[in-house]
Order: sequence, then structure tokens, then C-alpha cells
Amino acid sequence: MSPAVRAETPADFAAIRAINTVAFGGAQEAVLVDALRDGGDLVLSLVAEAGDDIFGHVAFSRMQVEQAGRAAPAVSLAPLAVRPEYQRRGLGTALVQGGLKQLAADGESLVFVLGEPEYYGRFGFTAAHAARFVSPYAGPYFQSLALSPQAPSSGAVRYARAFAALS
Ligand SMILES: CC(C)(COP(=O)(O)OP(=O)(O)OC[C@H]1O[C@@H](n2cnc3c(N)ncnc32)[C@H](O)[C@@H]1OP(=O)(O)O)[C@@H](O)C(=O)NCCC(=O)NCCS
Repeated sequence: MSPAVRAETPADFAAIRAINTVAFGGAQEAVLVDALRDGGDLVLSLVAEAGDDIFGHVAFSRMQVEQAGRAAPAVSLAPLAVRPEYQRRGLGTALVQGGLKQLAADGESLVFVLGEPEYYGRFGFTAAHAARFVSPYAGPYFQSLALSPQAPSSGAVRYARAFAALS
């Protein structure tokens, strides 16, 4: 399968909800995506499309890195979801790589993710880089990737409000 990765449109919203719900086995991530969108915090939302249907989705949302009373923008990658029957065909990789390329082109400098180091390491995310930042999620799963030399190099991370509702 060679998926096309494109930005979401309103016609995708129901399918995005369904993909997240089935991939995660519950509604929490689908609710998160809706809340991020409703809150105006989605920086980029991409779908992987093949034929007339979509099989994967990734959201990137606005977050801040605060230091010495100043806030610099950064981006959170979450959630990433591929329909179970279409996993391990490169859709997740295409979504993450497409998103990172677009974010760099848009001038974003720093991306955080919380997930499997084995998976996100292939895109350049490291826990060592994220360890420079203060976060309630600090640890081996908390990873970051600088997209430009201008990226903030330290500070406390603040996620979009929708994340506060996550259990
Ligand atoms: C994680 C997920 C998005 C990957 O999508 P995908 O389309 O299957 O990924 P790709 O085909 O691009 O890559 C598959 C590779 O990633 C690996 N991989 C997939 N999920 C992984 C995980 N949780 N931890 C480590 N490696 C993982 C596979 O083993 C495979 O490795 P290989 O290329 O060496 O065979 C998908 O498995 C999914 O939707 N999972 C459920 C939701 C989830 O956990 N999302 C991530 C939250 S951080």
C-alpha cells in the first residue's frame, strides 16, 4: 500500500474518530482530537488515504516551553493511530515523516512525543533531548526532536488544555 498523506478536512472528522477509537480500543484519543480541534490547538492534522478511504491519522497540537517568564511555541505529536488491519504497512511512518516535514516547512522548531522509544527513535526523537525540559511526563517515553537550531533548549513544557482531561 502506498498511502497519500494529506491534511484533514471536515469530511474526515467521523473517520478520524473511528480510526482513533479502534486503534486505541477506547474513545479517549478520539475525544482528545475533537477537543484539540474545538480549542483551536491543532497545528496540523494529517490522514493517510488510499483509494476513497482513510486508514491512519496523526495530530500535532500547540504547546509552549516556558523559561524565565517567557513562552516559546513547540508542538506535541499525539495521537498517532492506524487501523489495526492496516498496521505495519508504513502508514504510521508516512504520517509522522509527512508531519515533521510540513512542520519544518512551516517554521516550527521543536516537537515532543510521549510513546515507544523504539518506534519514535526511527524519526530522530530521543529521551536524552527531552531530558533538558521539565515535564510531568519526564522519563524514557518522553522524547523530543529539534527541527531547527533555533529550537528552545530548556524550559517547562505546557500542553494544550485538552490534555488536562486525559486520565
Ligand atoms: C503505533 C502505530 C501508529 C504504528 O503504525 P504502523 O502503520 O503500524 O507503523 P509502520 O508500518 O510505519 O511501522 C511499523 C513498524 O513499527 C513497529 N511498531 C509499531 N508499533 C510499535 C510500538 N508500539 N513499539 C515499537 N515498535 C512498534 C513495528 O514493529 C514495525 O517495525 P518494523 O518496521 O521493524 O517491522 C500503530 O501500531 C497504532 O495505531 N497503534 C495503536 C495506537 C498507538 O499505540 N499509537 C501510538 C501512541 S504513542
